[in-house]
Amino acid sequence: MSLSPSASRVSLRPATVADAPMLADWDRQPHVIACSSDRPDLEVAFDDRDWVEEIAASSDVSFYWIAEAEGRPIGVMQVCDPHREPTHYWGEIEPGLVAIDIWIGPAEALNRGYGTQMMGLALDAAFADPAVTACVIDPLNSNADAHRFYQRLGFTVVGRRMFDEDDCLIHRLERADWQARRAAA
Ligand SMILES: CC(C)(COP(=O)(O)OP(=O)(O)OC[C@H]1O[C@@H](n2cnc3c(N)ncnc32)[C@H](O)[C@@H]1OP(=O)(O)O)[C@@H](O)C(=O)NCCC(=O)NCCS
Repeated sequence: MSLSPSASRVSLRPATVADAPMLADWDRQPHVIACSSDRPDLEVAFDDRDWVEEIAASSDVSFYWIAEAEGRPIGVMQVCDPHREPTHYWGEIEPGLVAIDIWIGPAEALNRGYGTQMMGLALDAAFADPAVTACVIDPLNSNADAHRFYQRLGFTVVGRRMFDEDDCLIHRLERADWQARRAAA
């Protein structure tokens, strides 16, 4: 896969079950495994998630975007309403939030500005719904690169908590803060 040195324009499309083999392949990338768990022994991220099942279960409260640059898939985002999505991963949490998880798939697509563009598109889409007050994200406490990435986008740390075995640093971006950044851009 050849990519230009600076970021091309990214677009988002909904994931389909046809993306399942590619997503399973990305789950074996070391940088994806590392963001999914602090366990050093893992060979695959996300407990070998069944992507066909996962994407088939998409709904208005939990779905996946595939990001493409120059027509090639380069990343994925899960977007959910943490108050309403059926797994209740976030536990007790207020309504009116959106939770986002993001990862770049091919290692050579890292650090080219794609993630920043992806988050910009996803946040604009999320805040287009007037009911959404803020976005929350749960990187591992150990994932310093992701903290820097989110904080550069305006997220702030609001707490540290365990999700099962995962020690996470919760980040949050308020609607007003995102709108102020967009207005200043
Ligand atoms: C976190 C992640 C999604 C960020 O995506 P990304 O596309 O690599 O991010 P960007 O390229 O927009 O920004 C990363 C760095 O590249 C730099 N950059 C941005 N545009 C660039 C460009 N055109 N050329 C070169 N570098 C660029 C940014 O300044 C940033 O620098 P920093 O690390 O010093 O802050 C990606 O690193 C990733 O998938 N990591 C593994 C999974 C993960 O940790 N996900 C988060 C789980 S919560």
